Amino acid sequence: MRPHTIPNSPFPRSFNESTHASSDPDAPTRATDGDASLARLSAVRKGYLNDDFAALFVPRAHLQPNRAPLINIGTWVRTIAIDRLVDQWLLRCEDQGVQAQIVSLGAGSDSRFWKLMAGSHASTLAKYVEVDFSEITGKKAMTIRKDRTLNGYLGPDTSPQLDNLSAGGGTGISSSVYNLVPADIRCPPDEALSALFTPDTPILSKTVPTLLLFECVLAYMPPSDSEALLAWFAAQFTDSAPLGAVVYEMFGLEDSFGKMMISNLKSRGVSLPGVVPYKDQASLPNRFTKTGFSRSQAWTLKDIRKEYIEAEEHERVSTLELVDEIEEIDLVLSHYAITSGILVPQGLERWFAWDLPKLQQGQV
Ligand SMILES: C[S@@+](CC[C@H](N)C(=O)[O-])C[C@H]1O[C@@H](n2cnc3c(N)ncnc32)[C@H](O)[C@@H]1O
Repeated sequence: MRPHTIPNSPFPRSFNESTHASSDPDAPTRATDGDASLARLSAVRKGYLNDDFAALFVPRAHLQPNRAPLINIGTWVRTIAIDRLVDQWLLRCEDQGVQAQIVSLGAGSDSRFWKLMAGSHASTLAKYVEVDFSEITGKKAMTIRKDRTLNGYLGPDTSPQLDNLSAGGGTGISSSVYNLVPADIRCPPDEALSALFTPDTPILSKTVPTLLLFECVLAYMPPSDSEALLAWFAAQFTDSAPLGAVVYEMFGLEDSFGKMMISNLKSRGVSLPGVVPYKDQASLPNRFTKTGFSRSQAWTLKDIRKEYIEAEEHERVSTLELVDEIEEIDLVLSHYAITSGILVPQGLERWFAWDLPKLQQGQV
């Protein structure tokens, strides 16, 4: 068994920062953003994903090597699943004639906002907020500011704002839809995320259906901090609007594969305290049911690949590159999961239908 993990392959050194050059204990965690961006870039270049914006967030993208097929496949499955849950949220809002807010925590160099703005749901987005450490938001703000394509989706009122978007300072962006907020989300949310609901000029409304995205970030945080964060968001929306959440991360790391992943990441200075409570698939929904959400469900990437992706898409992808790691794919994908949670105020029970769409009979 080779020590592959997705997206935090132990192989690539991040372009964002050297993990050993700094005494900052969070530098290795921030460096995982480089792995995620390179994995996305590779999956796009190889034809697994369509994303005109991914390369714009990767410095010297043309010099970056592609990832192994296994990593491309993991990135493909995870992106399809999250994209579909996001689409379903937006469609539900459209059906009801309302707009939506999306908040991506630990967003890193993610390009999903731009993909959405270039797509058919753009006018449904009332707000799109990205949160990450100030070192990451500072770089992202400058990338966006310097790139006409990225900047073009933010509108004329866009300006990077210094030192006023979080308690700890840092560079962010404020615009009518897109907001980039520097914050350490392990800190008490009332302070770290005060900009979101500040009484004078809140970024978010508590009466708009809101979807939280945690794409490979909670694993790096102590479980008590992520529980506090989820409970805080739940408290903001109880009785006012539906609140959905999507978590993507590893789980069940007590077997030999998991131990190898943990030790590979440890050698890079990255620890995964957030996976400890989640020993199997059945335990994953606990993170939502214990923090005030109404319902939750979890799917492994292995199941999503087999049961939720259409035969034509499998056929298309099977022609992209030679995959000689067949037996590893199931093993690796069975250690990653997407978990959704939803909190629905009384009277809005129709929102419980928000789900990852299953294949119709005969589509597999
Ligand atoms: C593996 S990357 C994922 C980036 C992005 N979500 C994606 O999927 O492409 C993890 C991101 O979480 C961020 N992160 C981790 N812990 C954080 C914290 N305590 N506060 C804010 N951001 C954090 C890192 O800086 C990094 O950008």
